Amino acid sequence: MSTPYPVVPAPRFDVPGEQAVARARAFADAMALRRTVRDFASRPVPPEVIDHAVRAAATAPSGANLQPWRFVVITDPERKRRLRAAAEDAEREFYERRASPEWLAALAPLGTDWRKPFLEEAPAVIVVFEVHKGPHTPRPYYVKESVGIAVGFLLAALHQAGLATLTHTPSPMRFLNEVCERPQEERAYVVIPVGYPADDAMVPDITRKPAEEVVVRL
Ligand SMILES: Cc1cc2nc3c(=O)[nH]c(=O)nc-3n(C[C@H](O)[C@H](O)[C@H](O)COP(=O)(O)O)c2cc1C
Repeated sequence: MSTPYPVVPAPRFDVPGEQAVARARAFADAMALRRTVRDFASRPVPPEVIDHAVRAAATAPSGANLQPWRFVVITDPERKRRLRAAAEDAEREFYERRASPEWLAALAPLGTDWRKPFLEEAPAVIVVFEVHKGPHTPRPYYVKESVGIAVGFLLAALHQAGLATLTHTPSPMRFLNEVCERPQEERAYVVIPVGYPADDAMVPDITRKPAEEVVVRL
């Protein structure tokens, strides 16, 4: 292999052959219990769990290893209140004026509307930003793909630590730069309230496509 970087031995993460299927099954079974939760308990989340989950997310592969992500972890109640107020302003405009009838029809079964109490009720909210070219940051490649993979890692890490998440995408998202004190070259990608589900939390009774519908074996 020819590379301008010094090289190190590839880290080993060896799983004995006889354990591989059981581990793959256990992971898939655990992930099958992840649901988007919209009602959170007030019970606080251990800060270290979030720290480790963000650390896991930041190990994601990225285009040219530029790691074009930023994770803003908000636990301060006053900041969450401002986040909610700004998000509800933007969302009211979306639901009442900008969303197409088709879009509203797709959202209807989920029962979502402009109200976002979870932004204040969840004990933590992680706002993930894409980092673009700026005074101190290079032009990144495959930003959406890279940040999407990192968010996937983050959701999986939080879930396996027993925390519930909501993948929330307010539209538009520019207000998040101000609320999160991030510069122009950073663009919000997703807002993730994190916490424990409220005792009476309910989720839509949805199904997932069976493997034979989503897998093509050649
Ligand atoms: C990119 C993306 C954006 C989403 N945006 C929202 C959102 O703004 N508000 C919301 O309540 N749910 C949102 N969701 C959650 C989806 O509605 C949810 O993942 C889907 O209905 C499947 O349910 P599950 O996550 O419980 O399996 C979003 C999910 C994704 C992947």
